Amino acid sequence: MVNAPFIYLNEVCKVYDNNMVIKQADLMIPRSGFAFLLGSTGAGKSTILKMISGEIKPTKGRVYIKGQDTSRWSKSQKAAWRRKIGYVFQEDRLLSYQTVFENVALPLEIQEMPRKKIKEKVRSILKVIGLGNRINAFPDQLSGGERQRVSLARALVSNPELIIADEPTAQLDPQTAAEIFNLLVSLNRTGRITILMATHEWDLVERTNLPAYFIKDGSLLYWEGTS
Ligand SMILES: Nc1ncnc2c1ncn2[C@@H]1O[C@H](COP(=O)(O)OP(=O)(O)O)[C@@H](O)[C@H]1O
Ligand SMILES: [Mg+2]
Repeated sequence: MVNAPFIYLNEVCKVYDNNMVIKQADLMIPRSGFAFLLGSTGAGKSTILKMISGEIKPTKGRVYIKGQDTSRWSKSQKAAWRRKIGYVFQEDRLLSYQTVFENVALPLEIQEMPRKKIKEKVRSILKVIGLGNRINAFPDQLSGGERQRVSLARALVSNPELIIADEPTAQLDPQTAAEIFNLLVSLNRTGRITILMATHEWDLVERTNLPAYFIKDGSLLYWEGTS
């Protein structure tokens, strides 16, 4: 399917024990799109994100990635998809005994990229993210906003097709939250990266004109945005 949506959840349900968290939900994200997943704590935002990444399976329904039914994927196909995703979480998950450079270089070292290339890539991504001058700092020498930028740089360094940002601004003050959010939007505008951002911050979504899926009582309501 050439024109299949990048991500398509078709009538997915998720039941944990006896608790139906998601009820027959549909979600569609085009390639290079940006969408919010909006909902209060416990609404099921992370559950949806984990079904997309393949970390968990829906109890019912199907997850299609680029038109492919992921329930038919082999282990290596699943692993290949997970490598195309960059993650940013509420807490930064940085290694405290490693510098900004080393934290961002980590995914590339795991891929065994040559040292010289790693240096180039890490330097250029840190510039894009506005941390070019903090390359040798340790996480505890940075502000919360700077640490979250490092997380974002680490998520971006291996050229992901999708960024899954699970409440990336929840622990930041409103101004810093807006900065991180604007950075995500500008990355999306480069046209290559699809971004899915979970948040419980209704006003953040309201101020933008971007599409949002609102999760309430297990159902997903789509708001198209106006841009
Ligand atoms: N592994 C799990 N086992 C049982 N219940 C879970 C599990 N993961 C999440 N839940 C429950 O599912 C609901 C939705 O969780 P989650 O998707 O993490 O919500 P959100 O990210 O919107 O805060 C919550 O009630 C949570 O307690
Ligand atoms: Mg969550």
